[in-house]
Amino acid sequence: MIGVFDSGHGGLTVFRALVERFPELDFMYLGDHANVPYGNRPSSEVVDLTRAGVELLFQRGAKLVLLGCNTATCVAARTLQQDWLPQSKWTGRNILGIVAPTVEAATQTPWAVATPQYPQKYNTDVIAVFGTMRTINSFVYPEEIRKRCPRATVVQQICSDLVAAIETARPEADLEVIVKRGVDGLLAQTGGQPPHRAILGCTHFPLVEHLFRRHLPPFTRLLSQPEIVVDSFEDYLARRPHYAISAGPRRGPCLLTTGDPKAITRTGRVFWPAVPDFEVSAIR
Ligand code: DGL
Repeated sequence: MIGVFDSGHGGLTVFRALVERFPELDFMYLGDHANVPYGNRPSSEVVDLTRAGVELLFQRGAKLVLLGCNTATCVAARTLQQDWLPQSKWTGRNILGIVAPTVEAATQTPWAVATPQYPQKYNTDVIAVFGTMRTINSFVYPEEIRKRCPRATVVQQICSDLVAAIETARPEADLEVIVKRGVDGLLAQTGGQPPHRAILGCTHFPLVEHLFRRHLPPFTRLLSQPEIVVDSFEDYLARRPHYAISAGPRRGPCLLTTGDPKAITRTGRVFWPAVPDFEVSAIR
């Protein structure tokens, strides 16, 4: 069984794409709705909350946990993969983040390529990254993009409040105001120059992708993170099929929340009308 973790509803964008791509596999989702948003929290809290979420999914039988959250990936993935997991009782299991496939797609360069290669070495594109405060202040995206495209310009924009507004299913008009503020902030940084590509570097943001599309210049190509992540995941699973094997009979997608399952299912359905009912995970 494969686990997908996020602070709240955002990871559903990735989870849904996974369930649709691999209908034959067992997936379990955990949204830490009791503690969302992560993006304004200190890094140490993001690490602790992410570790607790991953551990819960391991306890429930996940062999592999995908962090469907940019904030958790930027802040916690490396620490959990390199320091915590090898010392824990969960050796043999694995944790994946979602920054690597996104950077690969944005730079058209495999993650394993450590030094810039032609033609990306001479690529002078402008790449926009929208994200939470914690993701943007980690500088993970600009650092990883510039390793592969040293001449590209990476412009980052914090969209604070957007995660909380999505979680509470605020009216579309309110969400649009927040998105427009973010896009305006980005274009102010570029002097009005439209970016070549834009990464919605928070898994909540694809839930309002149409609003980003409406306010970004038509020239700017939006990178779809759920699709990118699922393509990369397919490739990963083809090389490591043992992670997909489930013990016991198939049970279909299962969704857990640390919040109130009824309320969470209700807001989840605003963005994904067919989302299965959430179940309570454990009180944390
Ligand atoms: N979906 C998370 C992300 O991708 C949202 C973080 C938050 O809870 O602020 O960053």
